[in-house]
Amino acid sequence: MSACSIDETAIDLLVPAFYARVRADALLGPIFESAIDDWPHHLAKLKDFWSSVMLASGRYKGQPMPAHIRHETALSKEAFARWLAIWRETTDELLAPAVARAFQDKAARIAESLQLGMQFHRER
Ligand code: HEM
Repeated sequence: MSACSIDETAIDLLVPAFYARVRADALLGPIFESAIDDWPHHLAKLKDFWSSVMLASGRYKGQPMPAHIRHETALSKEAFARWLAIWRETTDELLAPAVARAFQDKAARIAESLQLGMQFHRER
């Protein structure tokens, strides 16, 4: 199945598939397993997040920056590169090319700003 527009169907397909791969990854799996107890809750939150980011639904009310600063020792440059590689792989497999590209561009920009925020936090 491949979603051909940016909509809730695409997000519902993408988010669980992405985290299944992340959990199976040797570098990222342990980081998420030690931080997340309630996976259904995390997946629901991340669906809200992507719905807010891509569809301006306003469903996500959280703050990604402190959530990542909390785990900054584990969030290396290499970890971010792996996260983005798995995101690219999953979006390419599940979504039509233009839709995959939109999700990839957005994730890359958010990853950049999370990394800048973490760097700023360390240098204070
Ligand atoms: C939450 C890990 C990159 C979006 C989390 C949490 C972990 C995590 C462990 C749970 C935090 C907690 O509740 O204590 C990582 C790792 C990344 C990464 C290892 C890459 C190295 C990203 C990127 C995005 C993102 C690039 C967005 C494009 C989110 C969001 C939350 C979250 C929205 C929920 C924050 C909240 O609780 O409201 N991440 N993350 N993450 N992550 Fe990431």
